[in-house]
Amino acid sequence: MPGIILVGAQWGDEGKGKATDLIGSKVDYVARFNGGNNAGHTVVVDDESYALHLLPSGIISPNVTPVIGNGVVVDPEVLLQEIEGLQSRGVDCSRLLVSEAAHIIAPYHRVLDKVTERFLGKRKIGTTGRGIGPAYADKVNRVGIRVHDLFNRDHLHDKVEASLRQKNQMLVKLYNRRPIDVDVTTDELLALGERMRPYVANTSLILNNALDEGKSVLFEGGQATMLDVDHGTYPFVTSSNPTAGGACTGTGVGPTKITRVIGVSKAYVTRVGEGAFPTELLDEQGEWLRKQGHEFGVTTGRPRRCGWFDAVVNRYATRINGLTDIVLTKLDVLTGLKEIPICVAYDVRNSDGTHTRYDDMPVDQSAFVAATPIYETMPGWTEDISKVHSFEDLPATCRNYVRRLEELSRCRISLIGTGPQRDHVIVLHDLTV
Ligand code: GDP
Ligand code: IMO
Ligand code: MG
Repeated sequence: MPGIILVGAQWGDEGKGKATDLIGSKVDYVARFNGGNNAGHTVVVDDESYALHLLPSGIISPNVTPVIGNGVVVDPEVLLQEIEGLQSRGVDCSRLLVSEAAHIIAPYHRVLDKVTERFLGKRKIGTTGRGIGPAYADKVNRVGIRVHDLFNRDHLHDKVEASLRQKNQMLVKLYNRRPIDVDVTTDELLALGERMRPYVANTSLILNNALDEGKSVLFEGGQATMLDVDHGTYPFVTSSNPTAGGACTGTGVGPTKITRVIGVSKAYVTRVGEGAFPTELLDEQGEWLRKQGHEFGVTTGRPRRCGWFDAVVNRYATRINGLTDIVLTKLDVLTGLKEIPICVAYDVRNSDGTHTRYDDMPVDQSAFVAATPIYETMPGWTEDISKVHSFEDLPATCRNYVRRLEELSRCRISLIGTGPQRDHVIVLHDLTV
């Protein structure tokens, strides 16, 4: 009964979509457990490229049952649009299961996301504007709306009214906006719920039964370790738990069912939105990485901030998630560099002028903001590695770079990505068992 968790080890966009597709095509279920349509996961199959936001990457594989777990926040409009978009391209979405306990993103959450960002001014988070934070805030405030609420008008009306009572006061008095109509919102959600109904199920029960019957489940995370609301660079984080623990709470499957935890890391680092990023390159080298790696957001199109591999981040991801394996992606992007710096630790200048070396991630964000990378430099390679399929056939300097990342991350590297396509891969260890 393999229960495999796959998470982002950095700040997102590590290539989780491709990794999920590679491993997920060999499992029975792929379940998303956190986040919502703030995610943008790319799966490339032959000449077709799919950008998935809410649907699990397993939707592309015909033998997989894709599941949206209770920990995901579901925007019903986006869900239905994404299903229609894929079906028009010949992808069958009829197997999809959506948890009846998942919270929904209502239109007013999107409005609130945008106005709160504006209100924060220079302290803004740089959110994707999809209503993620306000939807999770309602969940924790106990005024959220769950998928099963969409099937009973009176009940739904009551919940929408309760949720909007305070928000409308805020919208009108604080943000100078028009109030949102309870009846109109209820009817909109009711109609969307009706269209979603065929997919709605008790997904915790289904996943647990599947695991008990010896079937395999891949738990696919959105976002990443450093964006985790508890363990990330707070407050510049998302509002869910993209780390491995979130897979259990976000699907209703216990930790005893988990057999493997995979972290996905780029061979360098990118970040979208605000917040500190010690190895960020603000010069032409950063520009070079962005160009070579096509580093533009799948969800918002924003240029991604780029920097060198940060082993402090990866060691932290290994610890927080209990990683058993790393999938190292985009190694091909570094081809052509004479030398490649790796951040091995941070140097933090304290307020009294003294310096502290951090080999492990500081929890205090003022230390993280003040962190400057301590680099070690490895020789690069110039050979095209995109057609290499065995580790031994990589240039020696490339192998050394990978082995050093592995050592510094304190976790074995089991799969290497050498390009966006399914066959751009080097397998070191089988991840499906
Ligand atoms: P995710 O959010 O973690 O699923 O990652 P994204 O899809 O947002 O961004 C990763 C991008 O890198 C996508 O455009 C992928 O097609 C691409 N990609 C994934 N793995 C590799 C790789 O090994 N090499 C290259 N060159 N591109 C890759
Ligand atoms: P995938 O799954 C990269 C970032 C946003 C912002 C912060 C909070 O494709 O890796 P939110 O809208 O979640 O409230 O925004 O989190 N962010 C991501 N960055 N990849 C993602 O998803 C992200 N999802 C959210 O840019 O800084
Ligand atoms: Mg992405």
